[in-house]
Amino acid sequence: MKQKFTLFFLCILSLQVGVGQVSVKNLRCEMLVNPLGMDIKEPRLSWQLNSDQRNVQQTAYHVIVASSNEKLSKGDGDMWNSGKIESSQSGHINYAGKELQSGKQYFWKVRSFTNKGETPWSESSFWSMGLLNQKDWKAKWIGYDKTSPWDSITQWSRLSARYLRKEFQSSSAVQKATVYISGLGMYELYLNGERVGDQVLAPNPTDYRKSFFYNTHDVTAQIKNGNNAIATVLGNGRFFTMRQNYKPQKHNTFGYPKLLLQLEIEYADGTKKIIISDESWKLNVDGPIRTNNEYDGEEYDATKEFPGWNNIGFNDSKWIKPGLVAAPLGNITAQMSEPMKVMQLIKPVSIKKLNNGKYVLDMGQNFAGWLQIKVQGKRGQKVQLRFAESLKTDGEIFTANLRDARVTDVYTLKGVGIEIWQPSFVYHGFRYVEITGFPGTATINDFEGKLIYDALETTGSFVTSNSVINDIYKNAWWGIASNYKGMPIDCPQRNERQPWLGDRVIGAIGESYLFDNAKLYAKWMQDIEESQTDEGAIPDVAPAFWNYYSDDVTWPAAYITISNHLYNQFGDITPIQKHYASMKKWMEYMKSKYMTNYIVTRDKYGDWCMPPESPSLIHAKDSSRLTDGKLIATAYYHKMLSYLQRFAGLLNKNDDAKTFGLLMDSIKIAFNKTFYNENEMYYSNNTVTANLLPLYFGIVPDSLKQTIFENIRKKILVENNGHTSTGLIGSQWVMRALSDYGNTDLAYKLTTNTTYPSWGYMVANGATTIWELWNGNTADPGMNSQNHVMLLGDLLTWYYENLAGIRSDKTDVAFKKIIMKPNLPTGLAFVNASYNSMHGLIKSEWKKTADKFEWNITVPANSSAIIYVPAKSMNDVVESGKELSKIEGVQSIKWENGSAIVQIGSGQYKFISDIK
Ligand code: BGC
Repeated sequence: MKQKFTLFFLCILSLQVGVGQVSVKNLRCEMLVNPLGMDIKEPRLSWQLNSDQRNVQQTAYHVIVASSNEKLSKGDGDMWNSGKIESSQSGHINYAGKELQSGKQYFWKVRSFTNKGETPWSESSFWSMGLLNQKDWKAKWIGYDKTSPWDSITQWSRLSARYLRKEFQSSSAVQKATVYISGLGMYELYLNGERVGDQVLAPNPTDYRKSFFYNTHDVTAQIKNGNNAIATVLGNGRFFTMRQNYKPQKHNTFGYPKLLLQLEIEYADGTKKIIISDESWKLNVDGPIRTNNEYDGEEYDATKEFPGWNNIGFNDSKWIKPGLVAAPLGNITAQMSEPMKVMQLIKPVSIKKLNNGKYVLDMGQNFAGWLQIKVQGKRGQKVQLRFAESLKTDGEIFTANLRDARVTDVYTLKGVGIEIWQPSFVYHGFRYVEITGFPGTATINDFEGKLIYDALETTGSFVTSNSVINDIYKNAWWGIASNYKGMPIDCPQRNERQPWLGDRVIGAIGESYLFDNAKLYAKWMQDIEESQTDEGAIPDVAPAFWNYYSDDVTWPAAYITISNHLYNQFGDITPIQKHYASMKKWMEYMKSKYMTNYIVTRDKYGDWCMPPESPSLIHAKDSSRLTDGKLIATAYYHKMLSYLQRFAGLLNKNDDAKTFGLLMDSIKIAFNKTFYNENEMYYSNNTVTANLLPLYFGIVPDSLKQTIFENIRKKILVENNGHTSTGLIGSQWVMRALSDYGNTDLAYKLTTNTTYPSWGYMVANGATTIWELWNGNTADPGMNSQNHVMLLGDLLTWYYENLAGIRSDKTDVAFKKIIMKPNLPTGLAFVNASYNSMHGLIKSEWKKTADKFEWNITVPANSSAIIYVPAKSMNDVVESGKELSKIEGVQSIKWENGSAIVQIGSGQYKFISDIK
């Protein structure tokens, strides 16, 4: 009896332990947390497994989707009950239930079966569908398609904001209330005087001729019994563009701001009420926001406020009826990427009064966002704020590099108590602010900076024993955050702020270790497709706010490299599936137009922004520094074919894969014939980039690889004294190539230099972000942003993949299988890195002394890793005190090139090896 009881007790205990130890967390629908208003009919569900145990693998899962939370909690999957599905997949599971209905909300949960027992059901998550059919939209487009006397449609276009409001009755208990809104260019939404949502600068920008977004907001809690007021302010954004009647062949503009809004209220008794934007609304364009221009700034006159305008009971009898206006040309689409938000508050570090009475405020950090001010004074007094990235020697702000962007906000006081203001529809890229007209004495407590970017999770952390690397990493973080604005832009301060494709071709990979940019870039791939001409051309800027169809190869390459990256990093195959046809079309277009004897003859930018011969130059003129554009274009074209070949394989288009392969062969032959100099044994004029591209892209014959690498090594080490000589193009590959060819120490030198030209030189000269130019402190201000990310090239990828040794296997993508192979440069004592992957948190923390290597690793549940432990011999490696063959979680072991190569399951490990 006693024995039986013990057995029973042990069973219960082990069940409980098993259940308690593995759980399911971080549920995502289309990689988003509880998204509202989706228009994807078979959304993909993902989750992570959580466990402290080693070697946890999912063997099956069970998903339930219900039309209400009550049903879900009872286990009634009236929409989808997948049953137990044998699979180790925990990401991108396609919903396969009943047809999802427009405007409905769905609740879901999941449990996993693992080799270590079954998890409890996850917490419940949800998503909702947007308005899926054109006929679901009852709302009408309203606006005011005119200018007012205070507006101007000129180079520095000015247009006042549109204020729109409507009151309505709501009867009995509200069960659910949802607003669907597209306010173009940008909107702020209010219900009963309260702001709806915490998004700013919404919706995300698109090419409005092709598509535009609506957002969905749950306002159930904000609807009151009786009278209610719904109100919006419309700003210009990129819709009513910043430059009007000025270089019209360059700037695309789309019309006056306009609103489409539909509020659907469902009541407990099953009835429904719909409030729509139409002629019954009231409009006023003579309100406080006098102008809002992304380049030039926002002017807010508080004496023009309409107190209470966004709440009930406001007398709008003097307001006019809005006009019914034409819909934008594009397709209405649900926004499926994160909105921008205020992501961080920044306290200024100092304020200084200049002799002329102006103040200069120092935020201590270059960033993009805006400044909130707190001020008290007389009605009509004006406080002017001008933003800049740096100061002149006399202490005044330096604005020459902003070109014709006026970046000036003006606040006119109403003169009532303490006034707190921040703009609504603009952002600035700045560290310093010049303040004119501040009443009384300004202190740093009167100001607060707000960092604005897409609400993406920070995914990684990275600290090393080298402070230069740490500072560069930090600057990179700020630069990337600053330049995410619903699309990746080049810079946030001057009259540009354009989504230049070239700047992200490879950078997007490194960025993804810092920010969860999966949806941002998937959205961008759509922007790029929408920018394609019927012929097949892809521009250098997409959405094509600027018309730059230059038929370059290296900028549009982003379309292909980033789709590839989204698959590797996040397992998201959709961009490849969706865009394969248009990528192929572009490749064919370029081939038919510019390929002669297998050489691509068209290149626009060369190795953009490589270090020039004189400190004041933007671009080098010395031909020995410049790399032949045809070489660059042909090498990139070849590389793009290799990606397309992979895509064709993934999509089972075997004929295509073969055709691409054959073309690659012909290009390779032609490339070597044209650019390889047999006598000198280098490519073209022997720049690093000229040798690097064919080497890294597999164009160099095997027998010549070491020779070609030697050219690169010599060029960097001897001719450039261990410094970079590449621009945007070469920098996309150089760090990884150096490590791949066993020269990690040289790569390390490039990233720890503090003399010109280097990333460390920027740090040493006070940069808090990354500059556009290697010589950003001395070059002509005509093109000299201090907050550009393109020169990062593959640096961040190298930090994570090579220094920390965290990368995804390319067959078992999205870190289902992790390759952990840190490079150990001489002089670097430790790296502590983490990355929150699709499968969960990965950690690599290593420390090296003269004779020992210590490595703490975390592999998330339902993943495995192949790790390379450097050691003297296999016997010199232990894990938590045990020899390799004895450790739990080890799946295989072998020895190769000075490392024990161990395949491990999930869990935490602590390896120690003798390396001397
Ligand atoms: C932008 C770059 C861009 C380049 C290409 C510059 O003005 O700021 O980032 O890629 O132009 O022409």
